[in-house]
Amino acid sequence: MQKILTIIGARPQFIKASVVSSVIMQTEGIEEILLHTGQHFDTNMSDVFFNQLGIPKPDIQLDIHGGSHGEMTGRMLAEIEQAMLAHKPDRVLVYGDTNSTLAGALAGAKLHIPVAHVEAGLRSFNMQMPEEINRILTDQVSDLLFCPTDTAVQNLNNEGFAHKPVQVLQVGDVMQDAALLFAEKAEAPVGELPEGFILATLHRAENTDSPERLAAIIDALNEINTTLAPVVLPLHPRTRKLVALHGLELNVHLIDPLGYLEMLWLLDNCKLVLTDSGGVQKEAFFFGKACVTMRDQTEWVELIRAGANELVGANTIRIIDATKRHLGRQVQDTVNLYGGGKAAERVVFHLLR
Ligand code: UD1
Ligand code: UDP
Repeated sequence: MQKILTIIGARPQFIKASVVSSVIMQTEGIEEILLHTGQHFDTNMSDVFFNQLGIPKPDIQLDIHGGSHGEMTGRMLAEIEQAMLAHKPDRVLVYGDTNSTLAGALAGAKLHIPVAHVEAGLRSFNMQMPEEINRILTDQVSDLLFCPTDTAVQNLNNEGFAHKPVQVLQVGDVMQDAALLFAEKAEAPVGELPEGFILATLHRAENTDSPERLAAIIDALNEINTTLAPVVLPLHPRTRKLVALHGLELNVHLIDPLGYLEMLWLLDNCKLVLTDSGGVQKEAFFFGKACVTMRDQTEWVELIRAGANELVGANTIRIIDATKRHLGRQVQDTVNLYGGGKAAERVVFHLLR
């Protein structure tokens, strides 16, 4: 029996892990111990995903959140190491690029427990982003690198991974598995929503930690909401705090963070997606919607090449201009960019080999 210790802690990781955990539960010869670092802790940032997606209750629940990046990651590292010593897993499984990802990968590597990384090889080439640091370091200590795209494989090849004693595998994107699996359960959120809305999300540190970028984006959203189409924005707690701190006024249809099923409903029913999220860029594509991405780089470059996504940075005029051009535009996945919903099966297949 192979014992896998899965480390999760942030909203997108619950969604990614749900599909892999479900395959593990149906597969013989492999068992999973689930560790939740506590990085995300509000009911609508954590519990809701466990309930909606049928993720088992974590076997280990740390309660680590807040503080600086170094402090958060360091506290996680110390406590994850203790959990590893107690549970003696054969392998560690980490997802994405958060502080929880890096802490889990590093704890495993230091104890010589092999590390598998789902979403390996993604790069923005912007070392100012906490996510870029986390993913580069996690890849460096992993020996099973599950890449979601050909570009991710290429990035690792460019960094010399082809010459290392590790496996780089293109398995597709587990987020497409989740979107396909749960789309039919999508449900409208409670409360009235305006007709013909644009779905917006905004939370990345590169935007919210800069008062100038945050103000420029908010100016654009307010203008779009007044002149083009209503903007529905489920507000991430990070953004809520920073908007209040800087005394900014967000005049759009603000709602609390949503569960995944409600989010899928919004993706299906919106006229456009405006975001700085990694996952939401692809979900727009899965639902045939154009996406305007309020960042300077994206790791999902194939969406740009396919004409489904436009990068506009935090520039008020560019955000408004791109919104005008893409509003209501449908996009199509003609070449199966993300693996077609079989990524989780492939991950578990390779974990067992
Ligand atoms: C983290 C990830 C980011 C990912 C995002 C997904 C890192 C470095 N960043 O960013 O890559 O895109 O998760 O959503 O790991 N907060 C609450 N309640 C919660 C969760 C957070 O109030 O349930 C507050 C925290 O106390 C903190 C702020 O939001 O003040 C930011 O949380 P944090 O986990 O540090 O980073 P995210 O911005 O969520
Ligand atoms: N999401 C959600 N509710 C929300 C906002 C996002 O369920 O209110 C989902 C979204 O559909 C996607 C994931 O959370 O599956 C993306 O997480 P986030 O944008 O927080 O992080 P990122 O992908 O940028 O790391």
